[in-house]
Amino acid sequence: MKNTIVTLKEAKQKNKKITMLTAYDYSTAKLMDEAGVNAILVGDSLGMVILGYTDTISVTMEDMIHHSKAVSNGCKQALVVTDMPFLSYQTSTYDAVVNAGRIMKEGRAGAVKLEGGSEVIEQIQAIVKASIPVMGHLGLTPQSIHSFGGFKVQGKNETAAKKILEDAIALQEAGVFAIVLECVPEALAKLISDKLTIPTIGIGAGAGCDGQVLVYQDMLGMYGELTPKFVKRFGNVGEQMKEAFSTYIKEVQEGAFPAKEHCFTIEEEIIAKLY
Ligand code: KIV
Repeated sequence: MKNTIVTLKEAKQKNKKITMLTAYDYSTAKLMDEAGVNAILVGDSLGMVILGYTDTISVTMEDMIHHSKAVSNGCKQALVVTDMPFLSYQTSTYDAVVNAGRIMKEGRAGAVKLEGGSEVIEQIQAIVKASIPVMGHLGLTPQSIHSFGGFKVQGKNETAAKKILEDAIALQEAGVFAIVLECVPEALAKLISDKLTIPTIGIGAGAGCDGQVLVYQDMLGMYGELTPKFVKRFGNVGEQMKEAFSTYIKEVQEGAFPAKEHCFTIEEEIIAKLY
C-alpha cells in the first residue's frame, strides 16, 4: 500500500512511529522502499553528501528535480518528499507555487518540504491551496546556516523555544501535514509533538517525536566530514565500500580479475581467422 500524507497522519493517531530516511538515487531508494520505510526525503542535504559542498545553499531546482525523479522511480510504497532548495520559495508566493509544482510534475514527488516558520506562512498557504502537500522544517534549518553562525542546537533559551513552538502551531494552521524538527532539545520537541495534531519527524530532537529521519550516509558511516551527536551508526558501509574498492584495484592490477567465469566465449576458429 502506497504511503500518503494520510498514512502519516493516521500513524500519529494510532501512536505508531513514522520512519523516514533520505535518498538521492533509484537503487538506494528501492532498497529503502523494499525494507518498508514510510517516507523518503530527497533532502537538499544532497548538496553536501552527493555534490560535496560544505552546505546546502548552492543546491538548485534542477538538482532537486533530477534526484527526485530517480528516487520516485525506486519507490512503490514510500511517500517521496522533496526539499525545495534555497531561494526557490523565500522570494515570493508565485515562485513558491511554481517551484513546488515543478517538483511534483517533473520530480514526481508526493510532497514538498520547505524550511522556516512565520516568515514563510504565505508561501505554505499558497502551495497548499494549489493541492500540493507541504512538510515544514523548524529548529536547525540548514538553509539559514549563515544567520545561525553554524550548525548549532536551536531553541535552548525561553525566547527561542517559544518561537519554535509558535512557528510549529502557525505551520499546522497554515496546512502543513507534518513538521521536521531538527536539532532542538528533546523536551521541547516532545512538548511540540504533544501539542500538535500533525506528526513531527525528529532529527536530533529525541524520541518524543512522532517519527525519525536520518541522512542515510550518516547512519551508514559513508560521510566523514561532519558527524553530528544525534547520528547513530547502523552500519559501516563506508569502510566496506573502501575495502571492496581496494580489493578490486589489487585484483585488476594483479590480473586476478576478471577471471574465466566473468568472460564471454567465441569459437576459436573465428578468432584464428581474424589474426
Ligand atoms: O536535507 C535534508 O536531508 C534534511 C534532513 C536533515 C531533515 O532536511
